[in-house]
Amino acid sequence: MSSYLEGKIAFITGAGSGIGQATALRFSSDGAVVVVADVNFFVVAELADRIKNSGSQALALNLDVSNESQWEAALAETLKAFGRLDILVACAGISFAKPVAAMTLDEWRKVMAVNLDGAFLAVKHGISVMRGRKGGTNGKGGSIVLVSSASGIKATPGASAYAASKAGLNMLAKSAALECAAAKDGIRINVVVPAGVRTPMWTSIPFFQELAVAQGEAAAWASLEASQPLGRFARPQEIAAAIRFLVSDEAATMTGSELVIDGGYTA
Ligand SMILES: NC(=O)c1ccc[n+]([C@@H]2O[C@H](COP(=O)([O-])OP(=O)(O)OC[C@H]3O[C@@H](n4cnc5c(N)ncnc54)[C@H](O)[C@@H]3O)[C@@H](O)[C@H]2O)c1
Repeated sequence: MSSYLEGKIAFITGAGSGIGQATALRFSSDGAVVVVADVNFFVVAELADRIKNSGSQALALNLDVSNESQWEAALAETLKAFGRLDILVACAGISFAKPVAAMTLDEWRKVMAVNLDGAFLAVKHGISVMRGRKGGTNGKGGSIVLVSSASGIKATPGASAYAASKAGLNMLAKSAALECAAAKDGIRINVVVPAGVRTPMWTSIPFFQELAVAQGEAAAWASLEASQPLGRFARPQEIAAAIRFLVSDEAATMTGSELVIDGGYTA
């Protein structure tokens, strides 16, 4: 336990798994009150129980990040429970792999809905609550971090929808960061840019599944990780550590930044 984020109210989407879950646990062990939101409510309910059993405060909420009325309801619940919002981390995302020529418009839109509409709604409603327009009591700004991807910087075949969603997210964050700076509202908005991170997201990708069938899951992970410049993927806790820094007062002059944590992938 540390007091690095003592007393901060933090809302984390996609908190049911991977990077979001690691971020919630890290924030909680640093003294923050965490609101853990996910489209899979059962996993965040379990996570909130685990955090509360360790003596910290947590609230689990059901949230599909592509649904605006669910955002409004979730943030209203947060304000009702804790009175304000200091930190918002948008981790929820889906991967999707298919060549452009084979992709349907519905498949494209699904990726955009979760990854890009979801980021837009996080930023829009995060700013609104942090500025105190919806009954928040702080009015002293806050910090928003969006989880992007190296795919938004460096193209790979078969990842067009995912890559476009993450590239869009980067510019959304930068534009909104400058709007907040101009408004002098004390809100900072930054992006973390991981490459490979060892999370359950990979196990849903057909390429990984084919490798796992051919070689076994452990060998599939080993060959994927060996393809990275540093010879391994990041662990979700390592991305959480970077997010923790960005939301803290130590990063007070960082806004509109892309913090790349990619083991050299985009170098
Ligand atoms: N794992 C990687 O290699 C990697 C690399 C770069 C970026 N990222 C990004 O990191 C973020 C987290 O990924 P992860 O690897 O932890 O994935 P994960 O699959 O382990 O976790 C994603 C979580 O998001 C939730 N989610 C999915 N759709 C949602 C929706 N519509 N509303 C709310 N929650 C939803 C899932 O239920 C799940 O709990 C994603 O945005 C992903 O694009 C991951």
